[in-house]
Amino acid sequence: MIRLVGIVTGLVFAFVVLLAFVTGAYTFATEPHTQTAEKAFHRVAHVPAGGVSYDGLAPQWDVAQLQRGYQVYKEVCSACHSLEQLAFRNLSELGYTEAEVKAEAASWTVPGIDPNTGEVNTRPGTPVDRFPSPYANRTAAAAANNNAVPPDLSLITKARHHGSAYVYSLLTGYRDPNTYTNEEGKTLAQAFPDNMPGTGLHFNPWFANLNLAMAPPLHTTGQVTYADGTEATLPQMAADVAAFLTWAAEPSLVDRVRLGWMVMGFLLFATILAYLAKKSVWSQLKIREED
Ligand code: HEC
Repeated sequence: MIRLVGIVTGLVFAFVVLLAFVTGAYTFATEPHTQTAEKAFHRVAHVPAGGVSYDGLAPQWDVAQLQRGYQVYKEVCSACHSLEQLAFRNLSELGYTEAEVKAEAASWTVPGIDPNTGEVNTRPGTPVDRFPSPYANRTAAAAANNNAVPPDLSLITKARHHGSAYVYSLLTGYRDPNTYTNEEGKTLAQAFPDNMPGTGLHFNPWFANLNLAMAPPLHTTGQVTYADGTEATLPQMAADVAAFLTWAAEPSLVDRVRLGWMVMGFLLFATILAYLAKKSVWSQLKIREED
């Protein structure tokens, strides 16, 4: 009797689950999917035309580019963004001498403490200091930026999908929501008037929710003057700073890939050796079998 009740209960349960599944699947298949502004307008990150030197099977740092990217970071981005995982001494990896790194560090102002009174003050940077935040704290940062805190950029190329390409796309991706059309030929103003950027927000199809609180930081050709004479166009500055931030997030990227190839080479060698050893051991055994 108890077994019968158990079987009936099980069958009822299975029937209810099946019913729920079938009605759910039916609704999914028949009802039109609601289109969101993000789905209709969000664009996938892309690398600069001509590609980047630090991607692919044989990545290389273009040191001149990293130096230009550093200049863009220093002259533009550092007004709002810190780089707290990177110390000034790391710049020596970009081809600067010890004296140049010292001078470069001293050109920055970092938070300090007055040795006589213990009061908080500021002082010139030294090579061991890290790239500081321009704001005293998060509240001050939010207050200055329409309530959005500019994130620390040390790991930003790791923290976003296709990070390096994303930074490039974001910086070159500001558009006018009244004239920019998506794949369906619609403008944001026509298709999703409710998603138009509010005050202090800027439309950028590469940003996840389309409107961000960062005004276009790179906007004019010649905004920085490159020491090496490269023309500072918007795509050039964006590509350079994206390269610099990629290096900042993973200075060992190039070495890591090189080491990877060496490990693969060694494993191949070890496999061949193991195969030959196996052949040699079994050849002996076969001779004995034939005796
Ligand atoms: C005037 C201040 C300001 C300057 C200058 C500035 N940013 Fe920003 N940035 C912001 C703010 C504010 C946010 C946060 C935006 C948000 O979340 O809506 C932000 C966000 C970002 C993000 C993250 C976007 C995301 O996916 O969350 C990146 C990357 C970025 N900035 C890169 C840069 C680079 C590179 C430069 C220099 C070329 C730069 N920013 C210059 C204020 C600034």
